[in-house]
Amino acid sequence: AEDGYDLWLRYKPVDNVSLKAEYVQALKAYSAATDKSPTIQVAVDELSIAIKGLLGVELKSADQVGEQTLVLGTSASSPYIASLKLQKSLDPLGDEGYMITTKKGNVIIAANTDIGVLYGTFHFLRLLQTQQSIKKLNITSTPNVKLRVLNHWDNLDRTVERGYAGFSLWDWHRLPGYIDPRYIDYARANASIGINGTVLTNVNANALVLTPAYLEKVKVLANVFRPYGLKVYLTARFSAPIEIGGLKTADPLNTEVQQWWKDKADEIYNMIPDFGGFLVKANSEGQPGPQNYGRTHADGANMMAAALKPHGGVVMWRAFVYSNEEPDDRAKQAYNDFKPLDGKFDDNVLVQVKNGAIDFQPREPFHPLFGAMPKTPMMMEFQITQEYLGQGTHLAYLSPMYKECLDADTYAKGKGSTVAKVVDGSLNNHRLTGIAGVSNIGTERNWTGHLFGQSNWYAFGRLAWSHGLSSEEIAKEWIRMTFSNQEDVINPITNIMMASHEAVVSYMTPFGLHHIMGWGHHYGPGPWIANKHRADWTSVYYHKADKNGIGFDRTASGSNAVAQYFPEVASKFGSLEECPEKFLLWFHHVPWTYKMKSGKELWNAMCYEYQHGVEEVENMQQKWQSLENEIDAGRFEQVKSFLKIQKKEAEWWRDACLLYFQTFSGKPIPEDIPKAS
Ligand code: GCU
Repeated sequence: AEDGYDLWLRYKPVDNVSLKAEYVQALKAYSAATDKSPTIQVAVDELSIAIKGLLGVELKSADQVGEQTLVLGTSASSPYIASLKLQKSLDPLGDEGYMITTKKGNVIIAANTDIGVLYGTFHFLRLLQTQQSIKKLNITSTPNVKLRVLNHWDNLDRTVERGYAGFSLWDWHRLPGYIDPRYIDYARANASIGINGTVLTNVNANALVLTPAYLEKVKVLANVFRPYGLKVYLTARFSAPIEIGGLKTADPLNTEVQQWWKDKADEIYNMIPDFGGFLVKANSEGQPGPQNYGRTHADGANMMAAALKPHGGVVMWRAFVYSNEEPDDRAKQAYNDFKPLDGKFDDNVLVQVKNGAIDFQPREPFHPLFGAMPKTPMMMEFQITQEYLGQGTHLAYLSPMYKECLDADTYAKGKGSTVAKVVDGSLNNHRLTGIAGVSNIGTERNWTGHLFGQSNWYAFGRLAWSHGLSSEEIAKEWIRMTFSNQEDVINPITNIMMASHEAVVSYMTPFGLHHIMGWGHHYGPGPWIANKHRADWTSVYYHKADKNGIGFDRTASGSNAVAQYFPEVASKFGSLEECPEKFLLWFHHVPWTYKMKSGKELWNAMCYEYQHGVEEVENMQQKWQSLENEIDAGRFEQVKSFLKIQKKEAEWWRDACLLYFQTFSGKPIPEDIPKAS
């Protein structure tokens, strides 16, 4: 039975007869270097599996390049490609880009490096999987961003922080002796969408992974991933020199500490010559960091950067910092800490910023740090795992959420200074650029728990490579490869996916509400949560509902967090009239009687918005039901069951939030909204 294990690499037979004939004709044989690098070998293996599955034929190796040969390689590895004199067009493609072109009846996949060839191979296969004509190809592609990295929040005991898809893939107990074949499929999947790095460990992990016994295990993973262009990174606990190094301090200005990190880096690179570097969470949520010693984030980051620099490694230093001892608006803390440090970071440091200033909420305005630190490479951190988005049971396609942030205009250098341009380095001429996604992957058979979680892994990779793609294009690619190329399957699933994120926002946190989830686990509603010890982890802190109204005043009359944005944005978000309604309660405390654009009073508008979210889930259920005979029972039934849970929980959200907020508004819930049961 279909269980989703094959992800978007299913390679089911092409059902379109004429296209199939076209493909078979074009792919009589392949030609690649005889003395194949591991990466080219991987590309050829993938082609063979795929061609067999898609076309039912064995891909033969060509003795010489005749007509209808698929040629793959670089000018160095393939004499045929060299003879085509493509180098001028290949040069601008850099070390990961590729070209797919038709020359003299042959399909050529060429690049400057083997990994470029592998990426090109996956692109070519995607054309077949999505049933595009390959008659006259003329494609070039290069990534927008250099480091495209998954962040696994995996602990060494194999639990996964905010993971909803089973346990960690990394079987530390059996490593280094046993290589789970799943590691290879993981690497294939990542390579197929251009992900080129993976941080194996949780941002809250202890320092154990940096000890020799664990590094031996990490080395094996790095060896497995290498042919796929996937570099390994680790989280580095700031206090590691104390915990595993026996030092008394972790002060970044202490020479012994500096030496400890240098030695540690040397030790790692000795085992893993292409190790990527460190991801660091410091001075946030109780984690140790340089501020414990009166030093800045730059002091801390630069110390590690100096240790990694001789080996070509980078530090991804997180800006997700806040402390409950800080009385000011939590949304302001990262900016306040980091903005003054612009220009103080070494050139192999990236500051990794979550898309929004609070914490992976169903919807947040873009983080004000984007654009605010022109001298520093700003790395995007998205969450793929659905911590605040229904976790393992709600269907929420997140590409529209990623795009909303990437497309947002910071006005850092006038109109058109989008977050995407900050992240891809084009706004401030940075060559070191990156984008991270907190992984939703685990040991569940289908990898992501919810089958549609796969689409978020997929979309993250595709956008990291090419942020100009539209959410709909990405959804359609994924659907074609995951389910079918039939329009009557593609269309309903596209509709389901495209409406799904917005639906979740409607039934969880409409109009800019945020952080009103259950305490700790963040699953289900909990707008009533108050805790005198940690105001910043409670709902009442964020929604500020009272009998006059609801919302967090972040304008000048409140915390003035809006002032962290560039003036054009600040004045828009700060003005009650101009603030987009989707962010209204993020920035404003608004009376219950406030007139919304729809003409409804806020309270009524909220009631209908929650109800709308529920109805959208019902729509999703109906559309899915229409696919009963189109999709294999295994996957169909699971998604159907999850949608049922989602429907029930959307109602739970609606009822819980409306009944709770009603205690402040004192207004009736409109009659046409179903009563809480
Ligand atoms: C959220 C999440 C934590 C995580 C943190 C982080 O607060 O709930 O589990 O550790 O983000 O990103 O560091």
